[in-house]
Amino acid sequence: MCGIVAYIGKQEAFPIILKGLKRLEYRGYDSSGIAVQKDGELNIFKKQGKVAELEAYVADKDTSGTIGIGHTRWATHGEPNDVNAHPHGSGNEKFALVHNGIIENYAILKEELITRGHTFKSDTDTEVLMHLIEEIKSQQDCSLFRAVRLALNEVHGAYAIVVISKDNPDELIAARKSSPLVIGIGKNEYFCASDATPIVEFTKNVVYLEDGEIASLSLKDGLKLKTIENQEKTPYIQELEMKLEALEKGGYEHFMLKEIYEQPRSIQDCMRGRLSLSENMVSLGGILNYKDKLVNAKRIIVVACGTSWHAGIVGEYLIEELARIPVEVEYASEFRYRNPVIDENDVVIAISQSGETADTLAAIELAKSRGATIVGICNVVGSSISRATHCGSYTHAGPEIGVASTKAFTAQVTVLSLMALMLGREKGTISDERFSRLLIDLDNIPHKVESVLKTDAQIQHIAEIYKDSPNALYLGRGINFPVALEGALKLKEISYIHAEGYPAAEMKHGPIALIDEEMPTFVIATQDASYEKVVSNIQEVKARKGKVIAIVTKGDKDVKGIADHVIEIPKTDDMFVPLIATIPLQLLSYHIAVMRGCNVDQPRNLSKHVTVE
Ligand code: F6R
Repeated sequence: MCGIVAYIGKQEAFPIILKGLKRLEYRGYDSSGIAVQKDGELNIFKKQGKVAELEAYVADKDTSGTIGIGHTRWATHGEPNDVNAHPHGSGNEKFALVHNGIIENYAILKEELITRGHTFKSDTDTEVLMHLIEEIKSQQDCSLFRAVRLALNEVHGAYAIVVISKDNPDELIAARKSSPLVIGIGKNEYFCASDATPIVEFTKNVVYLEDGEIASLSLKDGLKLKTIENQEKTPYIQELEMKLEALEKGGYEHFMLKEIYEQPRSIQDCMRGRLSLSENMVSLGGILNYKDKLVNAKRIIVVACGTSWHAGIVGEYLIEELARIPVEVEYASEFRYRNPVIDENDVVIAISQSGETADTLAAIELAKSRGATIVGICNVVGSSISRATHCGSYTHAGPEIGVASTKAFTAQVTVLSLMALMLGREKGTISDERFSRLLIDLDNIPHKVESVLKTDAQIQHIAEIYKDSPNALYLGRGINFPVALEGALKLKEISYIHAEGYPAAEMKHGPIALIDEEMPTFVIATQDASYEKVVSNIQEVKARKGKVIAIVTKGDKDVKGIADHVIEIPKTDDMFVPLIATIPLQLLSYHIAVMRGCNVDQPRNLSKHVTVE
């Protein structure tokens, strides 16, 4: 969702901020803006649409200045237009603010401010916060830092903000609560952003603001941190592990395609140091201190959203099969709004690529408040979710820029596979022989993914045939049911074709009514325990003249005889089929979306960081 970039230093701020906003485009947004301070002037430039439109708009304007703030907005309060775009200026035009998050009590605050003579230009909650800061500053005749701090004590909701002043060319003020903000420390310069991607090419030294912290970034006085209750804090400087290449397309037409092709490596990176064939062992260092809790858990509850929720269902099959612990998989948004039965004997696994999903974060807080142990599976290092959990394992997939999750999904499933193996081994629920065999199979997955990627030309051909279908059905059984769900989600989110994923046997309880000569049905029909049942389901589709595209095990004959198209994938243990069967479905969605002229990396209405409920 919204993105923030800010700069203070000796260089021109505008181009640095503009480039940073482009790096944040992947988060999803509908307008952008930048404010720069120069010689006692505060110039604010804002435009609806893409950052390129802002760039074109300022082409003949003076954007110079060495301190500035920028924003990409994903509309919540007020439609996407130039006026509602950030930064928002104060009434006296002395200050400007960018804000991610939602100020929940903005309506009451706005009413009060109106009675004190404030007038508002936009429909946003952000402008209200700006005016509140201005009001406090003029009432108390205090520093801007203090005014921001006091204002934040009056607001409810979530925020990451950066404030700039017309009168002070040497200070940026930044603060966060429930919405991330990273400060980059360069030589005689500071950067500030909603995630590290705009910062990584300038410095590796960063400070992640904690909830309820406010910072002053000054070239003269350095970086000063306080809590919003006014307690001094010492900044904890960390080194960023992110590489700049990971943020570039590297010759691919889209980030999504690059990320699909990165999977042999990202799965390998995820297993590195955790799976050892020579020692015949699996170890997830990040959860070792809580291993006993997991091993003795009466029940595991997975909370997640979207693709991460699909990974959670694969995890359910893995953990139940290999470690014999009952697993329930919940939408984080549903879990948090009922009164779940959960206590200190439960273990909650929270899965999130971004580590910032508001519903997942809230589900964690609820489970924590009831005494449960929380294990995180996150991709983004230092993210809010990774910090809210008791322990966890990073997926190490590298930055995922395409909005549709691909390599993060397979990395999440890899961590869950490792976790299930580790727990199964500890509990003695898998035989030594099966454990060793599974280890070899899992270790081989990156090579198998590589070989599936070689079927791309065939998948493009299939995409060409079905690209104009208005609907599609995805079927799978057992551990491949979540693969069907994920295949359907990938297609609908980037190509806007209506698609549904179903357990194959459920088809006859409803979706079979949709099948006609036009309707493509994608079936995961690999040779596993439910193979024959799936073959029967394919027969049912064919009997109604539906088109069947099946993902089969290499060498398969039965399905080949009845399906319209088959895509072969290498044989692997049933437990790990999702890791390879997902790949052709990702490629298929990608090609269909490209052929339909869709914006693959930034599909309409979607955001990479869903930081609102
Ligand atoms: C789909 C997709 C979304 C996310 C969901 C959760 O391709 O990307 O469904 O999976 O918004 O996001 P995270 O994993 O960041 O919590």
